Amino acid sequence: MSYKIVSKRQLNKLTFVMQVEAREIVTNAKAGHFVMIRVHQQGERIPLTIADAHGECIDVIFKVVGDSTFKLSQLGVGDDLYEIIGPLGNPFSMPMIQSLCVIAGGVGCAIGYPIAKQYTQKGVDVTFIAGFKEESEIFYEQEFHQVSNQCIITVEQQSEDYMQGTVVDALNNLLLTKKVDALFVIGSLPMMKAITKIGEQHQILTVVSLNPIMVDGIGMCGGCRVNIGGKAHFACVDGPEFEGRLVDFDTLIARNQAYDHRWR
Ligand SMILES: Cc1cc2nc3c(=O)[nH]c(=O)nc-3n(C[C@H](O)[C@H](O)[C@H](O)COP(=O)(O)OP(=O)(O)OC[C@H]3O[C@@H](n4cnc5c(N)ncnc54)[C@H](O)[C@@H]3O)c2cc1C
Ligand code: FES
Repeated sequence: MSYKIVSKRQLNKLTFVMQVEAREIVTNAKAGHFVMIRVHQQGERIPLTIADAHGECIDVIFKVVGDSTFKLSQLGVGDDLYEIIGPLGNPFSMPMIQSLCVIAGGVGCAIGYPIAKQYTQKGVDVTFIAGFKEESEIFYEQEFHQVSNQCIITVEQQSEDYMQGTVVDALNNLLLTKKVDALFVIGSLPMMKAITKIGEQHQILTVVSLNPIMVDGIGMCGGCRVNIGGKAHFACVDGPEFEGRLVDFDTLIARNQAYDHRWR
């Protein structure tokens, strides 16, 4: 099995997109799926979302946060990854909807992108709200416009070109003038909790993508346990998407406190 890197592009200081040969994965890949990647034989498995698929290749967009993502970022075109397992998780699906708002923060936009693309292709009216801390972190601006009817980019710092604020501000503004049937949310846990609350206030179906630490990605290790509707679920095999109102965010935030800087 060959997992050769066929292209690599740096999107901002710490974020890269790589296209990797993965013939047997691409055939079954759908929006919402992820893969477990092992960069080297001795390396740990890391979960990354399938951001796109073309021909015999998948795209992964990743931010360098630790050892494995750093080692991945050091590889280049022509190098081989040791192992890719997937597609894993459940493909994202919504009941019949006419409008969808995808709300994503930071590298979470990599996970929002295939969802927006799929629903735009289905003829659903998609609004993409992408939030970044600073202008220098913005990536895929053109691509987000291509996969949505409306794209709003927010930055927390002063900006002349983008909305200053957070994705929460952008969603509150949007809902003043637009009816939305469903929200798809991916970002930090406090952000997803806040958006879920807005969804509940407006009675909008809100689906969040949970990214707890995963070790095997196939339901055996228990590492990704989350509390959904009072019952334990494994995000890797039962998710990673869940209805936001059922998620016990407070327990998850407490468990993930050591890791919660990841999606900023
Ligand atoms: C289903 C799923 C899909 C994902 N998709 C993507 C993606 O498309 N692009 C992307 O950049 N990242 C994605 N991630 C997160 C990615 O898997 C981690 O960033 C990666 O495993 C970090 O590995 P590392 O060895 O580089 O860092 P580590 O050394 O393992 O960790 C460095 C620091 O990153 C933080 N961290 C690591 N993993 C997570 C996590 N799962 N949640 C919160 N914080 C974490 C912790 O603060 C940790 O201290 C996804 C995670 C899941 C569960
Ligand atoms: S990652 Fe092991 S059970 Fe989900």
